Amino acid sequence: MSNPLPARVRLVEVGPRDGLQNEKQLVPADTKVELIRRLAAAGLTTIEATSFVSPKWVPQMGDNAEVLGRVLAAPAPGVDYPVLTPNLKGFEAALAAGAREVAVFGAASESFSQKNINCSIAESLERFRPVTEAARAAGVKVRGYVSCVVGCPYEGAVAPDKVAEVAETLLAMGCYEISLGDTIGSGNPLSVQRMLAAVMRRVPVAQLAGHYHDTYGMALANIHASLQMGVAVYDASVGGLGGCPYAAGASGNVATEDVVWLLSGMGIETGIDLECLVDTAAWISAELGRAPASRVARAVLAKRAMAATTT
Ligand code: HMG
Ligand code: MG
Repeated sequence: MSNPLPARVRLVEVGPRDGLQNEKQLVPADTKVELIRRLAAAGLTTIEATSFVSPKWVPQMGDNAEVLGRVLAAPAPGVDYPVLTPNLKGFEAALAAGAREVAVFGAASESFSQKNINCSIAESLERFRPVTEAARAAGVKVRGYVSCVVGCPYEGAVAPDKVAEVAETLLAMGCYEISLGDTIGSGNPLSVQRMLAAVMRRVPVAQLAGHYHDTYGMALANIHASLQMGVAVYDASVGGLGGCPYAAGASGNVATEDVVWLLSGMGIETGIDLECLVDTAAWISAELGRAPASRVARAVLAKRAMAATTT
């Protein structure tokens, strides 16, 4: 199951959306906009800014139009700011706020689809179709997510062929990239490679991304396993922030700084400045009243503190 390792990896920063959506306290729009600015300054070129979902379902994203509007008023050069849109209503609101890239999000598990977006997998795909059509007409790029690609919080193990079927349908609808979500972080290198092998029979690997939550500490191992299969795009969240409100116990995405450390150690380019990223992880964690969760941020900060006491 081994392909040549990619020489370069694109990281999709999902902290401002996946990272913050599960925070109980409302985070001010100022903080969200500043977080996105700092992430761009650290070298991230794709930053998922917010989601145009129902504010009754996810109150934290209720300031979506304000956040996206302010970010797009002063965009960093060469940076894309995708937003989640579950249906046409969300797409129209995102477009009105200036979005140039959106993401539809489905699942490979029926129960998760119901809990997360209140419809079956088949119904969700029918809701996404007009979104992709309207996006094409407006020249807006569409990314597709598949959640629960190895495990579901309600159904347990998920069949790789089901993941492949949903991924292929999203691709056929016009999604330029399919992000494969291990929503509850229950995957391991073997289950992730089996899932990828099934998906890669129907979707070219160049159009796949790994989106691995780190609930059981397996996300970096799963990224390493996916690199060996040729996957060259990974979603990550600064400081390891986050979780899904409809997947109890799911912790954050893999921390962006952990992924950058892994990749740079393996000689794989990301274009991201690790020191600047760690500063951002420390800053947003302090804003949320905690220490950064990631191993790499803690190690870099400890090393800096030690250097400061010895000079
Ligand atoms: P619904 O209740 O079935 O929608 O929710 P509806 O069409 O029946 O409409 C009900 C009400 O919602 C109406 O308002 C609509 O106008 C409103 P009312 O008449 O009652 O006042 N509404 C909306 N409002 C704002 N924006 C919209 C919108 N659509 C309808 N877009 C819906 C369906 C999808 C809206 C709802 O279930 C929802 O918002 N779910 C959000 C789920 C979510 O954000 N989950 C987290 C993100 S996914 C994730 O984290 C996984 C991922 O990271 C990958 C991974 O880790 O696996 C991507
Ligand atoms: Mg997620």
